[in-house]
Amino acid sequence: MNIIITGASKGIGFELARIFAKNENNTIIAIARSESLLKELKNACIRQDLRNKLKTIAFDLEKINEIKTVLVPEIIKHMQTVDILINNAGILINQPFEHFKTNEIKQIFDINFFSHALFINELLPYLKVGNPKHVVNISSMGGFQGSLKFPGLAYYSASKAALANLSECLAEEYKNDGIIFNCLALGSVNTEMLQKAFPNYTSKTNPAEMAEFIHDFAINGHQFFNGKIIPVSSITP
Ligand SMILES: NC(=O)c1ccc[n+]([C@@H]2O[C@H](COP(=O)([O-])OP(=O)(O)OC[C@H]3O[C@@H](n4cnc5c(N)ncnc54)[C@H](OP(=O)(O)O)[C@@H]3O)[C@@H](O)[C@H]2O)c1
Repeated sequence: MNIIITGASKGIGFELARIFAKNENNTIIAIARSESLLKELKNACIRQDLRNKLKTIAFDLEKINEIKTVLVPEIIKHMQTVDILINNAGILINQPFEHFKTNEIKQIFDINFFSHALFINELLPYLKVGNPKHVVNISSMGGFQGSLKFPGLAYYSASKAALANLSECLAEEYKNDGIIFNCLALGSVNTEMLQKAFPNYTSKTNPAEMAEFIHDFAINGHQFFNGKIIPVSSITP
């Protein structure tokens, strides 16, 4: 299978890339900004003797205008169809609503929402070919309707809610094209991002455990779910 994972330099995405790389039939493209952390991912795969299965691309998704001109041309050097796309990259700024500057709001929405929407759009020709394809958008319980909300996370949560809603809309729009869209609204996972959101809080879920779940869902979930926003959370936060 051909798999693309954004936000693969650390946290959940890092573990996800490593799990997909265990299957020698998979080609994985791992995207993030940090070249050095992506190199660590590659080294981790080399230690597991998985070096041929994973390509890394250092790219800043905030440069949304370059998704079409730089990122996608680089991707299609390595794969001409995409079986699984996991839009996992994200940022979080934790501060009171009234302290947000326009550029911070724009940054959150560019990375957490617009980059994923534009990336999906540019990959549509490669998603429409062949067997059912699965796009898994990684959202948050903060963006899940009716969930408990937390001060400081308003824009982060709103951007995640937008991504969740987009998943529902695209499932309907592309239901005859063999592309399945789902959204996982994650609860807390022990990563750098969780520390920004809830300093000194420890979740009972580690990145590798959540990555196992997302991996299994990405492979099998398209048979049972389409256009669904699924809360993946057993505790709050
Ligand atoms: N951890 C949690 O408790 C939790 C809960 C709910 C939802 N989530 C969601 O799960 C996803 C993964 O989060 P995580 O906890 O693993 O966070 P993390 O450890 O902070 O990792 C975030 C990833 O996104 C990448 N990224 C950020 N900005 C980027 C940009 N402009 N361009 C390209 N890549 C970018 C980062 O790489 P670079 O810095 O190298 O670019 C990194 O690989 C996020 O979407 C997050 O919102 C997490």
